[in-house]
Amino acid sequence: MTDKYAVIGNPIAHSKSPQIHALFARQTGQDISYEAILAPLDGFSHTVEQLRKSGFKGCSITVPFKFEASQLATILTERAQSARAVNTLKFDSDNILGDNTDGAGLVRDIENNLGFHLRNKRVLLVGAGGAAYGVALPLLQADINQLTISNRTIEKAVNLAVSLVKKYKNVDVFESPDSRIFDLVVNATSSGLRDELPILPPTVLAPGVLAYDMMYGRETPFMRFARQNGAATVSDGLGMLVEQAAESFFIWRGVRPETATVIAALRKQR
Ligand code: ATR
Repeated sequence: MTDKYAVIGNPIAHSKSPQIHALFARQTGQDISYEAILAPLDGFSHTVEQLRKSGFKGCSITVPFKFEASQLATILTERAQSARAVNTLKFDSDNILGDNTDGAGLVRDIENNLGFHLRNKRVLLVGAGGAAYGVALPLLQADINQLTISNRTIEKAVNLAVSLVKKYKNVDVFESPDSRIFDLVVNATSSGLRDELPILPPTVLAPGVLAYDMMYGRETPFMRFARQNGAATVSDGLGMLVEQAAESFFIWRGVRPETATVIAALRKQR
């Protein structure tokens, strides 16, 4: 019997997840279906309940339901708790497991696909919204030297740092004037959506820096800023998108799909 999965969001038509999971299923020989489901803005939990009743094994969760999904889950992984959001649900007869694979996806893309080793690196995380919460703990667990959080609204950066600092002493906040330099700068703000640039001094970019924008689909002002100021490597977030999906696939199926060909296939479409 084919096991059923889906991605739930609103809007959802643009989602690349059905295509990614279809490629994973074909490649690994797993007998699954995966569809996109539009949930009404006030109907997320009802939609999940319907899916469970009709035998679905799990689902991916996207905007704007990731927080609601964290409340619906009966078991939350540590990384989902830290993220305060869930992008992956796995159903069994008694429980709904909630996980967040975004940070693992970012770490894998950086280390395996871009060949950049995080151990001992000085990392600047730009942004303190949901996207930043999703990746902060997995970055720290990759044994980095320091996680510094920068945000337009400084209080939100402080709140994110405070949520981590009990367990990780190497977390702090970037407050200008701040003359530190970083080996990795991750843009986790939504500034690129509006073609805007988060305010950052170009001096943050250390020689050999990797500048990573979690957005994908086009060159963002942050990516242009990094290129113009001599970043050694500049990346968008397409690899992270595929890697977070691969991690979800692994949670559901116990099989880790190969990602390089899937990333290449998506890049060709653009
Ligand atoms: P998400 O859940 O997608 O991260 P969010 O919680 O609204 O969305 O957070 C968006 C993040 O992008 C925030 O860190 C926001 O900064 P503020 O906390 O100051 O609002 C940041 N952001 C959005 N547009 C920005 C811009 N033009 N310049 C700098 N930061 C921006």
